Amino acid sequence: MLKLAVMVSGGGTNLQAILDAIEAGGITNAEISVVISNNPGAYALKRAQSHGIEAVCISPKSYETREAFHLALLEKLQSCKAELVVLAGCLIAMPELIVKAYPNRMINIHPALIPSFCGMGYYGLKVHEAVLARGVKVTGATVHFVDSGMDTGPILLQKAVEVREGDTPKILQKRVMEEAEWVILPYAIDLIANDRIRVEDGLVRILK
Ligand code: GRF
Repeated sequence: MLKLAVMVSGGGTNLQAILDAIEAGGITNAEISVVISNNPGAYALKRAQSHGIEAVCISPKSYETREAFHLALLEKLQSCKAELVVLAGCLIAMPELIVKAYPNRMINIHPALIPSFCGMGYYGLKVHEAVLARGVKVTGATVHFVDSGMDTGPILLQKAVEVREGDTPKILQKRVMEEAEWVILPYAIDLIANDRIRVEDGLVRILK
């Protein structure tokens, strides 16, 4: 069983998609050991608790320095023996310290087709606002491994979503979640849990 640590900051609909996939058998050979939020008010924590999963808040506000906060995160991940860290709507910029501890063992879901609309400043609704402002006709979501850059790690899975006339950032965000994020994030976890992913020269190969 692959032990997952899921890191969140908000509503946790991606966490819910993972929980549902584990229950329905869409993800096999994996279990969630812990859900960690930097935000005490994150509804994602309640979703974890209602499934009997350990839910902890590690807030930067409780630490005097950023380094102490990062160390607390790392200690929690290590004490839970996490084998795969899943950033599911996690708004913390991952420090080198943690990234280095989980090489090709940490994944993130980004609500656009990387390398478009990613990097510094592209998070949450801002991504969808930028997509609409540029007038692209197709957007989507990407699951990638986390490296020391921002949204630069090896790409695991992508799924395209149509941009429609009359879309607002919120409408588009919802469609991207429903049609792409909630589909590819659980699938990526299942592929890793079943040893079907190889990373070679920064590129991901999916075994049949
Ligand atoms: C999602 O759009 C995800 O791609 C982004 O943050 C949002 C999180 O939503 N990184 P939720 O907390 O999973 O509902």
